[in-house]
Amino acid sequence: MIRKIFGQAIIADYPAALRHIQTEDINLAIWQSPLSDETKSYLKKLQLKKLTRKNKWYGDGGYWTYLGKSTIIEPFSQNLSQKDKLRLIQQTFGNLPSTDGKEALSTDILKLTQEFAKATNCEKMSFNFLVFKARPQTSFWHTDIKSHRGIITLKGNLGTIWQPNKSLPRTKDRNKTYWGYVKPDDTIQQMKSGDFAIFKCQDSKSPLVHATPPTFMTRGYRLALLMGPDRSA
Ligand SMILES: [Fe+2]
Repeated sequence: MIRKIFGQAIIADYPAALRHIQTEDINLAIWQSPLSDETKSYLKKLQLKKLTRKNKWYGDGGYWTYLGKSTIIEPFSQNLSQKDKLRLIQQTFGNLPSTDGKEALSTDILKLTQEFAKATNCEKMSFNFLVFKARPQTSFWHTDIKSHRGIITLKGNLGTIWQPNKSLPRTKDRNKTYWGYVKPDDTIQQMKSGDFAIFKCQDSKSPLVHATPPTFMTRGYRLALLMGPDRSA
């Protein structure tokens, strides 16, 4: 089933719907709940606070960090076997525990990179794992660089938040990165944790204005997988 909201977002329970991101009036396409049960139970057991204890934190007040290293992948490359690709993906995992479910997580991530590549017509792409911790005054509305961003919240009660086009001031430059702090009275829409989203960025006419959930919405840590064309993630 496919659902369209605010005339700009497509939400569906099958991956082919992500292709709608190529449509002019769409700037957000969501595939609901793509992760396997095995991956989900693996993620449930992760302790993000513990995993990031020794990490360097970036941003105002230190609210985000990398879990592992950004990796470039050609998800449909003929030169790499499925096994090689899974191994490449696991290199980005940093110190994630090697318990049951890690293989399932890699398989799911490969699947997501392939769907991203198909939907955005890119051959080479990069991905990375970010951990966010909600802090006061660090959640700001912005658009991302390049053409497209893929994102899924792997752990955390809330996904990325976004604003409908029609709630944004028409006169403001959509390609400006910074749109101010998220306030409780803003028209906030929310991606669900565990849903995979592709949205348009600054290379397009209507980049999606989005943010990480602020402290008045959530507490604790959030693990997200980000991807982008070429080396942008
Ligand atoms: Fe962003």
